Amino acid sequence: MTATAVPSTPSPSGSAKPAWDKGLANTIAAETEMSFIDGGKGILEYVGIDIDSLARNSTYEETVFLLWNRRLPKKDELAAFERALRAEYELAPEIYNLIATLPKSTTPMHALRTLVSALATVDPTADDHSIEGSQLKALKLVAKTPALIANFDRHRSGKPFAKPDASQNIAGSFLTMLTGQKPTDAMNRALDVCLILHADHGLNASTFAARVTIATLSDMYSAMTTAVGTLKGPLHGGANEEVMVMLNEIGTIDRVDAFVKAKLAKKELVMGFGHRVYKTTDPRATYLKTFSKQVATDTGNEKLYEMSRTIEDLMAAEVGSKGIWPNVDFYSATTYHSLGLRLDLFTPMFAMSRMAGWSGHCIEQLRDNRLIRPQASYIGPHAAKYVPIAER
Ligand code: CMC
Repeated sequence: MTATAVPSTPSPSGSAKPAWDKGLANTIAAETEMSFIDGGKGILEYVGIDIDSLARNSTYEETVFLLWNRRLPKKDELAAFERALRAEYELAPEIYNLIATLPKSTTPMHALRTLVSALATVDPTADDHSIEGSQLKALKLVAKTPALIANFDRHRSGKPFAKPDASQNIAGSFLTMLTGQKPTDAMNRALDVCLILHADHGLNASTFAARVTIATLSDMYSAMTTAVGTLKGPLHGGANEEVMVMLNEIGTIDRVDAFVKAKLAKKELVMGFGHRVYKTTDPRATYLKTFSKQVATDTGNEKLYEMSRTIEDLMAAEVGSKGIWPNVDFYSATTYHSLGLRLDLFTPMFAMSRMAGWSGHCIEQLRDNRLIRPQASYIGPHAAKYVPIAER
């Protein structure tokens, strides 16, 4: 094919061509009232409340109410919200049947993406994208995701399904389904804190993907399926799993120095470090660091915590000046491991929590919707000739 390469894309409106912004790092593509991030100062707020304060004082359920209603609930409102969530914990029989058909060898993220999508098939109102209809679906998705993850894990482990426990909060019901035992208060709180910290985070990649999907007036289940698929990548939610793989590979503290320096010398990523927005320590990591120390000590995983801290110190000395600091995934890996969760459940746990932020963003998008449709700069040839197949 012979042709000239002319990199030009006329603007559809005939106005000036938009600036090329690789990775959309300098593009504001949505408005939100849910989370505020100052990456330079290391601030994350949900509806104006500092994340540290929420992690210390709130619960996941209260945080979800806050994100969705832009205010903290009164006592009776929180109780009513928790009741509404618990009434939606249970899965339809068709969903249990579907879980039973999934290959045991598949990964939990592939299973979760399939199962979130399947929830639409048993919801006759799946295509109702009124605000009220979408709010109800958001509630269902937050309530049911724990049973999807826990029961897929039981299925692949050859265990019978476990019903959600509507007498417990989301963290407690999830851990009970997963392990078959009611968690201690400390374990429940550890997971609850992780759920709070992961609930929302501005226009991250999976949230953006969800907003793109809902903006076409598709449906909430499609948007959440898109988001789960996007979260899965190791540059996004998949990093917490990769952190644990790395910690296992390093094995002992005395090997940290050589391992990290070799990675950096080869220009390879050290997982759990760096962030598109934070150029200082991710504020979620600050809290998780202290918290994971306590959880690790309580569960006999001090060595793992110490190894993480050694990596953090070394990374600070080596690349801190480049703005590469621990992100939320670094210490959440230690926390989840200490809770006894299997490695490949780490990212599904992230999804379980972020379901609140994803669905909240979708409702914000629907309230003031416009199709999200950026442009590509065409860099291919022009005036190319169609050559019949016999002549090529
Ligand atoms: N280890 C070593 N070097 C790094 C790292 C890292 N983890 N992260 C960034 N760098 C280097 C990168 O190589 C580049 O160096 P140079 O300027 O010499 O080419 C420089 O820092 C800038 O990096 P970037 O890739 O341009 O930054 P980005 O904003 O595009 O990417 C990131 C951000 C999170 C994708 C990246 O830091 C990364 O891949 N980190 C490891 C994966 C990870 O932990 N992801 C979880 C993110 S937090 C959870 C979430 O929000 O999803």
